[in-house]
Amino acid sequence: MSNRTFTMVKPDATGKGYSGAILDQIIKAGFSIKAMKWTKLTKEQAGLFYDIHRERPFFGELVEFMSSGPIVAAILEKENAVEDFRTLIGATNPANAAEGTIRKNFAASIGENAVHGSDSDENAAIEGDFFFSKLERF
Ligand code: RTP
Ligand code: MG
Repeated sequence: MSNRTFTMVKPDATGKGYSGAILDQIIKAGFSIKAMKWTKLTKEQAGLFYDIHRERPFFGELVEFMSSGPIVAAILEKENAVEDFRTLIGATNPANAAEGTIRKNFAASIGENAVHGSDSDENAAIEGDFFFSKLERF
């Protein structure tokens, strides 16, 4: 187990001014930040990041949304990071997210759901490498 995961605060949440509150909740849940940047994806970059969903009906919408405004990208560390972070963010659709989860607190819809969390150790490593060089992490 790598004990690391990767997250993004998505454009809906940065646009509503929720970045600070979301990062606060992440840190208070015991995650430490190993790399972080505030940036904006092009459509091409958003498509590459979510390449696994290219054939899904919502792919076009997802790419438009993820390139529509700034994001915060970060590598997080904690014991059992991938699974614990998925628990912290809650279900993809905020209507189904548990009370107190980040998506319950900050997300508006299944498409615009405030945060990304890696779904496996393997993808956490791939996604961290997508955003950060060796110089930008520790
Ligand atoms: P994420 O990868 O962003 O952490 O989200 P997730 O694992 O909970 O959900 P996933 O199935 O990987 O979907 C990726 C993102 O695509 C958007 N989506 N829209 N309109 C829809 O039915 C729909 N379904 C998914 C969401 O932004 C979702 O987080
Ligand atoms: Mg996913």
